[in-house]
Amino acid sequence: MTSPIGRTQDTAKGQKAYNADCASCHGPDGRGQTTAGKTMKAREFSLDEVKMESDAEWTGSIVKGENKMPGYDRQLSDVGVKDVVAYIHRLVK
Ligand code: HEC
Repeated sequence: MTSPIGRTQDTAKGQKAYNADCASCHGPDGRGQTTAGKTMKAREFSLDEVKMESDAEWTGSIVKGENKMPGYDRQLSDVGVKDVVAYIHRLVK
């Protein structure tokens, strides 16, 4: 992927989807400090090792799931996934 996702995405929509589908584990601030997040060991998005992952890796985790995290290919469209990734970028800034 050459240009990072983020400039043209709809982060307002991403935020809505994030708060609905993701915040229960990852927390509204992306720090994973919820009960479910702590139990499943969701990592803080702002950790360097997570931030260094490419958009493609994040997209893969979101679409297919990763370990205890379920996949969201049925809930989110391709565009919806991009919006959420763009929103996570905003969270970790
Ligand atoms: C049921 C709890 C749960 C929900 C809901 C959830 N996740 Fe996760 N997520 C996790 C866990 C746990 C991991 C770490 C997986 C691993 O590597 O073991 C993770 C990993 C990730 C990663 C990869 C970063 C990393 O730590 O490797 C991204 C990106 C991500 N989640 C985004 C999302 C998005 C976006 C949503 C909503 C569409 C979402 N997650 C919903 C639990 C959850």
